[in-house]
Amino acid sequence: MVAHRCGLRILADCDVDSLHCAGLSPWESRLLRNPKPSTLAAMKRVLVTGAAGFIGSHLAEALLARGDRVAGLDCFNTYYDPAIKRRNLAQALQSSQCSLHEFDICDEDRLRELFTAFQPEVVVHLAARAGVRPSLQDPNLYHRVNVIGSQHILDACRDFKPSHLVFASSSSVYGGSVEVPFKESDPVMRPISPYAATKRMNELQAHVYSHVYGVNVTMLRFFTVYGPRQRPDMAIHKFTEHVLAGQPIPVFGDGSTRRDYTYIDDITDGLLRCVDTPFPYEIFNLGEHHTTSLSELIALIEKHTGRTAIIDRQSLQPGDVTITHADISHAREKLGYNPRFSMDEGIARFVAWFQEIGREGNLS
Ligand SMILES: NC(=O)c1ccc[n+]([C@@H]2O[C@H](COP(=O)([O-])OP(=O)(O)OC[C@H]3O[C@@H](n4cnc5c(N)ncnc54)[C@H](O)[C@@H]3O)[C@@H](O)[C@H]2O)c1
Repeated sequence: MVAHRCGLRILADCDVDSLHCAGLSPWESRLLRNPKPSTLAAMKRVLVTGAAGFIGSHLAEALLARGDRVAGLDCFNTYYDPAIKRRNLAQALQSSQCSLHEFDICDEDRLRELFTAFQPEVVVHLAARAGVRPSLQDPNLYHRVNVIGSQHILDACRDFKPSHLVFASSSSVYGGSVEVPFKESDPVMRPISPYAATKRMNELQAHVYSHVYGVNVTMLRFFTVYGPRQRPDMAIHKFTEHVLAGQPIPVFGDGSTRRDYTYIDDITDGLLRCVDTPFPYEIFNLGEHHTTSLSELIALIEKHTGRTAIIDRQSLQPGDVTITHADISHAREKLGYNPRFSMDEGIARFVAWFQEIGREGNLS
């Protein structure tokens, strides 16, 4: 069973019956019988892992809106309430061009079945255990999902040959560096959390697959992404929820730590640019190139909620970094990436979303 690669993916050599027997869904079997090459030329088949998550669900909607076909893969783990993830993906799933595949990326057999059936032209790999502090509690889990699970994605890309793979890395690979702004060319040898180490390992794994097997890979170092659907464990989400409820917010450190916060629409725009542009191997910072202190962030949340925050001051935690700041000149030059959201506008949008929808989703 061989997938050809000549710009357009052809499924003619696939043994449909054997795939059917292999337990493929009706949607997957239908796809195999009717690949519609003429239609495929006009749009892309994009496999999005972690599609029900914060970033993945926004990307899925953006791809569908421009006419691409999306296969979303997600295992709906309980890192946060799976009901929130189902709500995230509900809009995308209204499209007939979007399918959902519920399994763990560590299940290599099912992953290969999906690649066989869907024949993605582009793979966007966002599925991961995210979060720095929880990685300190369970480093093995982070290694299993982020490193071994991602290894399966790389193996599948080597064997099924999509035109390229876009892969989520993280600003956390810069570790405790205070030499800012962070450049892609900086030596990133000293991660300070298990999570950061897995993301750096992903960059190394991907480089091997690009160099040895010719897998085209674009690694994206996201800088603290926020906006509607942001994960409930992240500071902006948690602070907004607690401030509106009149509860204290846990503030680690004296409020002077700084982050380059990136609005979700800017990240989605950067992702779409990468979906459209294969590179043999590139790493891009996707940030705003603007930093905000924790105290300034809290003041913005107070402004847009109209409430005063109650601060529960705590010491900095292991794994916390004091600053992140992205040099985005490489992404500007090669991708045309041009982030446009100010923190003021982004927080206003987040708070509006939270008050209308997000609050209901915080079931846990
Ligand atoms: N949000 C940020 O600020 C940020 C910053 C840097 C990097 N990242 C990276 O971007 C990616 C997306 O982050 P997010 O904030 O949307 O996280 P998220 O947790 O909302 O989304 C990740 C999704 O992946 C799924 N998933 C996790 N493990 C899986 C597995 N083994 N098999 C299948 N699905 C699995 C989860 O169920 C979830 O829906 C992650 O790789 C994360 O490490 C995010």
